[in-house]
Amino acid sequence: MSSDSTEPLENVAQPQGGETYLDQTLRPASWDEYVGQDAVKNNLHILISAAKERQTPPEHVLFYGPPGLGKTTLAHLIARELGGALRSTSGPAIERVGDLAALLTNLNPGDILFIDEIHRLSRSIEEVLYPAMESGVLNIIIGKGPSARTIELPLPPFTLVAATTRVADLSAPLRSRFSGGVYRLEFYTEDDIAHIVRRSAKILGVEVEEGGVREIAKRARSTPRTANYLLKRARDYAQLKRESLSERSVSEALGMLEVDVLGLTPLDRKLLTVLIERFNGGPAGVSALAAALAEEPATLSEVHEPFLLQLGLIERTQRGRVATRKAYEHVGKTPPADLNERLI
Ligand SMILES: Nc1ncnc2c1ncn2[C@@H]1O[C@H](COP(=O)(O)OP(=O)(O)OP(=O)(O)O)[C@@H](O)[C@H]1O
Ligand SMILES: [Mg+2]
Repeated sequence: MSSDSTEPLENVAQPQGGETYLDQTLRPASWDEYVGQDAVKNNLHILISAAKERQTPPEHVLFYGPPGLGKTTLAHLIARELGGALRSTSGPAIERVGDLAALLTNLNPGDILFIDEIHRLSRSIEEVLYPAMESGVLNIIIGKGPSARTIELPLPPFTLVAATTRVADLSAPLRSRFSGGVYRLEFYTEDDIAHIVRRSAKILGVEVEEGGVREIAKRARSTPRTANYLLKRARDYAQLKRESLSERSVSEALGMLEVDVLGLTPLDRKLLTVLIERFNGGPAGVSALAAALAEEPATLSEVHEPFLLQLGLIERTQRGRVATRKAYEHVGKTPPADLNERLI
């Protein structure tokens, strides 16, 4: 058995252990290999080409959207296109002002600074980041009390690329400083996911029948990382069974992982069942749901909800989450008579 097959399935959209390695092996190395997200790609193309013509670094950009949709990959592609180095860090890793100052002053002209999970930067760090983003300077306060003074240190020209799964948690001043644009990544179409599966299969050296490709694409939560994960699990299964990756063997493998025909995991289904049975179909707040499921509210709102919303299984109303008719049908329950009123 491969070492990463014991990872909790609930986290398929999030990289961990072996999946981080898989992310890197299968990560598109060129714009052509980066499937889908055409609107984002087109806008980036204009931003980067125009900046290159002016021989200045492109303005700062922010990517947001659920995990595994390709935010980090975009940062890599931008750095590659600009020929600069990608310096990667994340919100929680920048604990003190000095950490950020060290990162900024060590950049070379044209480098990309990538800050993942940027919503987790503290306010005091944000204050240091603003002048760096706006005017390319680092303000350092020397001394304390009345004798304190600020010196301005010019920074090498750079582009900040940031990513977050929780754009609502970003402060407005920070958000507004991404003058190159704030881009939302969308869930992928089934055709695009099928395309990604075929490409990944080639890289991994496994043969998958078209029926098998389609089966993975259908159940991959419209998410490239999940598609790659399911492909690997299906490969393991077929290998041990000495079978080809046909529609049937893939379907069996994914069935064993408890990923259903819509791509829902056990926790997705439990969420729907709890919403329907315990909260009478809703409306229910996310923290109440999280408590009932003994899960972190953030896991529900960042990983599970976006996909359930996308599928139309739940709706977000003023008063909380409500199960839709499709949700009742999916878990085999009868919708209440007043369902339509609840969805308002
Ligand atoms: N557009 C794409 N085309 C092909 N493969 C993709 C695409 N987007 C993502 N992938 C695959 O999915 C993996 C995960 O993508 P990536 O790490 O960029 O996601 P992310 O949005 O940064 O996720 P997180 O929020 O968890 O950090 C990549 O390594 C790559 O293999
Ligand atoms: Mg990422």
